[in-house]
Amino acid sequence: MSRSSVFARRRARFLHEMGEGVALLFTTPKAASGYDVRYRYRPDPDFFYLTGFTEPEAVAVLDADRVTFTLFVRPRDRTKETWEGRRSGPEGAMRDYGADHAYTVAELPKRLPDLVRRARVLHYAFGGHADGDSVVAGLLGRFRRDARNPKRGPVTVKDPTDLLHAMRLVKGPEEIALMERAAAIAAAAHREARRLVKPGLFEYELEAAIDRRFRAMGASGPAYTTIVASGENATILHYAEGRRRIGAGDLVLVDAGCDVEGYASDVTRTFPATGRFTRPQKRLYGAVLAAQRAAIAAVKPGARWDAPHEAAQEILLDALLEYGLLHGSRATLKKKNAVQRFALHHTSHWLGLDVHDRGRYPDEAGAPRKLEPGMVLTVEPGLYVRADEKGVPKEYRGLGIRIEDDVLVTESGARVLTEGAPK
Ligand code: GLY
Ligand code: MN
Ligand code: MN
Repeated sequence: MSRSSVFARRRARFLHEMGEGVALLFTTPKAASGYDVRYRYRPDPDFFYLTGFTEPEAVAVLDADRVTFTLFVRPRDRTKETWEGRRSGPEGAMRDYGADHAYTVAELPKRLPDLVRRARVLHYAFGGHADGDSVVAGLLGRFRRDARNPKRGPVTVKDPTDLLHAMRLVKGPEEIALMERAAAIAAAAHREARRLVKPGLFEYELEAAIDRRFRAMGASGPAYTTIVASGENATILHYAEGRRRIGAGDLVLVDAGCDVEGYASDVTRTFPATGRFTRPQKRLYGAVLAAQRAAIAAVKPGARWDAPHEAAQEILLDALLEYGLLHGSRATLKKKNAVQRFALHHTSHWLGLDVHDRGRYPDEAGAPRKLEPGMVLTVEPGLYVRADEKGVPKEYRGLGIRIEDDVLVTESGARVLTEGAPK
């Protein structure tokens, strides 16, 4: 199946589930990283999911009543393309992206009213795109003032976010293939980090080696800023400075995943800089590893999405009691969720086009969502004991450990996509 037919099928399903009306989607604006330099462009994941279009300044109009797809894109421009890169233009939008109609984005104000006026429902997610919001607000105001026109424009505005994100939650075969690739590349980068690490190396040297491996294997780069956190830096969850020199007795926490055609992997490994754990390190590492194994075993279709978290918490609680980081009755500590003092974050999040992928965790009734084949989630228990933590045995202070894998829910259970990174 061709790439463009994958997007066409998603649009068909989206239009079907919309039922009626017109949906408007704006892609992400370009972001400045300084005066006249920009970050590498990344399209809006929802926009990309339905269009496959990766250029900035694009707007999609999806009409469920007429079953049409219209794209507004940047015009072809010989000078701009020489300076900034190739553009599809409206012709390319129709030829390569399956648009039924395509226009330059400059035509949007003129054409949008007629594209929307007939619809009873406008599907638009306010609050995600400032320019889009102002275009849509202006449009609605214009329709309201235009009350004598028998086709007065939509009377209902509906947020399509839940519908789209429910679709994104269950991955198709072509998405799983990309996520497998992102997972395999991340695993290779983690193996390399483990091979290279030694006391005396700076955190940023390891970060550079990991990011190089991502690019060398065909990923577009890290899916989020690569975390290399040595010693007590590992107790900072999203540590990003990376300036410290790795010490001999340190654990090194590496949280690194890459982007492959928009899809993320998200992998954490924690290992001793010298290759040998100290006793307290080994204890806490063993607890996190056991918690992770139990959590992964809890991933299967029909299970609650938070079943892995519950399984991990039980094991972490036992370990914290055994090693004297928590004291008191197990039942009371469990009820008070005392583990959270050291475990800090949830064990899982969805993974996909976004690292913290979209899609609700409760279902429509408010109950925890059930896992279904095709969903991908991380399983990443951790324990973090701050260096200044009071009331805990001294030898555990300053330790941070997280082990994170990406897990695909299958028909029969689960498959760990990131198995290739040793733990
Ligand atoms: N790398 C961010 C996370 O693990 O959620
Ligand atoms: Mn994660
Ligand atoms: Mn992570």
